Amino acid sequence: MSNGTGRYEKRLSDLAGLYADSAAFAALLADGDRVVYDVTEFRPSENGGDVIFGVTRMNPGRVGKEFFLTRGHIHAKSDRPEIYYGQKGTGLMQLESPDGETRIVEIGPQTICYVPPYWIHRSVNTGDEDLVMVFCYPADSGQDYGIIERSGGMRHRVVAADAGWALVDNDGYVPRTPEVAAALIGDAV
Ligand SMILES: [Fe+2]
Repeated sequence: MSNGTGRYEKRLSDLAGLYADSAAFAALLADGDRVVYDVTEFRPSENGGDVIFGVTRMNPGRVGKEFFLTRGHIHAKSDRPEIYYGQKGTGLMQLESPDGETRIVEIGPQTICYVPPYWIHRSVNTGDEDLVMVFCYPADSGQDYGIIERSGGMRHRVVAADAGWALVDNDGYVPRTPEVAAALIGDAV
């Protein structure tokens, strides 16, 4: 992508605490603090009528049985949606509603994924090559990364399985109270 206004990358050490297998995480980190994903974006403004778009590239890999993933977030203005368009590789978008429902959208080349308003979202590379996606969202959305941390992670983990991947329960998950879930939805501007 040319003429971007920003770029950042997340390394394994930036993702400490997200994976179930802390021994596997420590072993992998000891082997080198590798880049897990990078994002190049074009951010024209922060006005609600504008859009931010860019390209995210995720390396393939696993921590124990869990695939490499992004930190994940809900939009700070929680009613703001997002579009992801798969360009290369295979992976999925893990979606979680404020009241704890999980939905999975598989992503491959020429696949489009709609993240509706109010849904927490994280991408996961389930393949053995880079997962590359274009994204686009309203420029005033913002990101709340703490939403996942406050619940001890997302409700499910995406792990390697004979069929490619499977969901397993996250034992550390603490459901949001009905009041917290309602406030997230009532937060809409
Ligand atoms: Fe987002």
